[in-house]
Amino acid sequence: MTVIKETNYSLLEKQLASLIEDESNLIAILSNTSALLNDTLDQVNWVGFYLIENNELILGPFQGHPACVHIAIGKGVCGTAVSEDKTQLVADVHAFPGHIACDANSNSEIVVPIHKNGEIIGVLDIDAPIKNRFTKEDQQGLEAIVSILENQLSK
Ligand code: SME
Repeated sequence: MTVIKETNYSLLEKQLASLIEDESNLIAILSNTSALLNDTLDQVNWVGFYLIENNELILGPFQGHPACVHIAIGKGVCGTAVSEDKTQLVADVHAFPGHIACDANSNSEIVVPIHKNGEIIGVLDIDAPIKNRFTKEDQQGLEAIVSILENQLSK
């Protein structure tokens, strides 16, 4: 069994807050956030963002292999996170109806919706090469990370 190194989310929150404070450019903020998460999280193979444009999700800044550019709202894990406006914690992507396989290495996934001034604007998507990678603690930690982003983007 793979041992997953636990993430120190309170430290990660502080690092992210200082990395993006005083910044207002969306692409710069999301690019550095994906790099920080990719550097910090153990056992992940894709970390990035999809942003809503013309009523669909479009690929945003990310770290990992090239990925699908367009995802319909309501489709796959990312599209479901948007249509339900709710974090999707998927222990086994192969068991998720309609999962979109962008990276064949992905086995589990977490997707957290992002809001700006209360309106959903996109998602944070993280894929892992092993099943059951993400726990409820990861969900709480990543939702806290997204809150920091939301506060900065809503300024
Ligand atoms: N698996 C995702 C698609 C995006 S990739 O994982 C980068 C989904 O089903 O929404």
